[in-house]
Amino acid sequence: MMQPRPPRQLGLGASTTPGRAVRLGGLGVVLALCAANALGGEQGVNADRARVNYMLNCQGCHLPDGGGVADIPRMKGFVGNFLKVPGGREFVVRVPGSANAALDDAALAELLNWMLLEISASELPENFAPYTAEEVGRYRAQPLSDVNAVRTELVQKIAHLPLQ
Ligand code: HEC
Repeated sequence: MMQPRPPRQLGLGASTTPGRAVRLGGLGVVLALCAANALGGEQGVNADRARVNYMLNCQGCHLPDGGGVADIPRMKGFVGNFLKVPGGREFVVRVPGSANAALDDAALAELLNWMLLEISASELPENFAPYTAEEVGRYRAQPLSDVNAVRTELVQKIAHLPLQ
């Protein structure tokens, strides 16, 4: 199950809570939280709203914790890896489930930023920068014609990443 977390989690500031953030799971998480914090200041990231949007738009297929089932790939503990390889950042937005969601660009960006930190913080690159609405709008305007081919290629690139 997804860990219930208070909404303030996305607003943790590095300056006041570095030790606490480290206990949550390492440098990547600290940086990701910083990034989310910065975004929260600028664009009003709301973890509760993101969670509800995930429930309404994604969870029916991806399950509450992103665990996946049958032909739905497991996102939990994996999806963040896509952001480490060229094309993966775009892929996460361009898959039909994301691109076609009945959410505007800002809401989809918020959902994805929240989701990545919630279910795959450990796999995110250390320099993870949250999606902006503008970026999401650009990527989703270019739908994938062959999701499986692109996915296979990206998963191969992920498998060849040097161990960290
Ligand atoms: C109708 C079922 C369905 C819904 C709803 C859905 N997805 Fe998906 N999702 C899939 C399937 C199936 C795949 C595998 C790729 C493909 O065939 O599209 C996938 C793949 C993905 C991937 C790539 C993961 C990987 O390992 O390849 C991401 C990221 C993703 N979905 C995000 C979302 C988000 C975010 C939402 C909600 C806004 C969502 N999806 C809604 C079915 C769904």
